[in-house]
Amino acid sequence: MQTKILKIDNDHLDDGSAMREAAEALRAGELVAFPTETVYGLGADALRPEAARKIYAAKGRPSDNPLIIHICKFEQLGLIAREVPPEAKKLAEAFWPGPLTMIVWKNEKVPYETTGGMDTVAVRMPGHPAALKLIEQSGCLIAAPSANLSGRPSPTEAEHVAEDMDGRIPIILDGGPVGIGLESTIIDLTEKTPMILRPGYITQAMLREVLGTEVVTDPGIIAADSAKKPKAPGMKYRHYAPKADLALVEGEAGAVIEAINRLVREKQAEGLKVGVIATDETKSFYRADYVVTVGARSDEDAIAKHLYKILREFDEWKVDAIYSESFSTPRIGQAIMNRLMKAAGHQVINV
Ligand code: TXA
Ligand code: MG
Repeated sequence: MQTKILKIDNDHLDDGSAMREAAEALRAGELVAFPTETVYGLGADALRPEAARKIYAAKGRPSDNPLIIHICKFEQLGLIAREVPPEAKKLAEAFWPGPLTMIVWKNEKVPYETTGGMDTVAVRMPGHPAALKLIEQSGCLIAAPSANLSGRPSPTEAEHVAEDMDGRIPIILDGGPVGIGLESTIIDLTEKTPMILRPGYITQAMLREVLGTEVVTDPGIIAADSAKKPKAPGMKYRHYAPKADLALVEGEAGAVIEAINRLVREKQAEGLKVGVIATDETKSFYRADYVVTVGARSDEDAIAKHLYKILREFDEWKVDAIYSESFSTPRIGQAIMNRLMKAAGHQVINV
């Protein structure tokens, strides 16, 4: 299959034929990759089983890993949910369109192909003009996972989608680099106490404040609790895995630099190629084959935005080992560390 990359101008989506062509492909049951504010998605008509099946095939995704349905109007939640919980309305008013996915009980219109066999469904209204326009113009509710091959970092640019999906899907809409760079926060509203299944840009504190109730985090995604199984099937896979062995080094800044430089020398002595994930402040202190900065330590938005691109770059450079500083920043730090810890297979070196 020939993959077309169609450039779009997010400010003038009615110009040209790209959006129309993509909407038509979705209506015909085909796959279209498109930008959202978090990461690029791989979309198909959510209510057609055979369209959803194509997503799993293109990604090489296990069929028990459910998809998120993207909508463009709040009322569309009522088309796929058994009932719309009052919490959903409150959260939508505060955070939609935006990087929050809600889990509710599904109704009979939603095929099990889309929900990976589950009786619940994940729903999100993305905060990106092209994504909203595509949903509206196609008339479809769009099931979309991140547009990467299963096990690769999520794509934050159209080029990353092309790396993984070239020849596997007909259309990639190129709306430039995304804004956030980490997947949406997932909150499960079918639990007695609303539960975060995946941390993201919308934090536990923000959710608590809007709901005015307790919000818990799935114990299955907290490293210390890794004996428990995560409730979101996708969180159990070793996602975002770079090809190299990745370890996080935690501790006081000076000690971390010293430890990483020593570890790099040891690996290089074995003839291995080594990379370091640093910050603007520390970059010049490292000696390795590749030293990459995620941005200023104080700028957590930049760290979130660059992380996946950097992991992809290390794959390209074929490094054997990567050492990364740790980023327990105040707001999205939990989400950044969740992704990094998974990429590292929970390897942490304390110094
Ligand atoms: O930001 C995002 O959420 C991006 C963009 C494209 O919207 N999408 C995304 O989709 O990250 P994906 O498929 O890569 O991740 C969806 C996660 C998986 O971990 C999946 O297991 C979980 O959501 N999930 C989906 N439906 C669920 C359900 N009914 N119950 C529990 N977990 C669910
Ligand atoms: Mg994904």
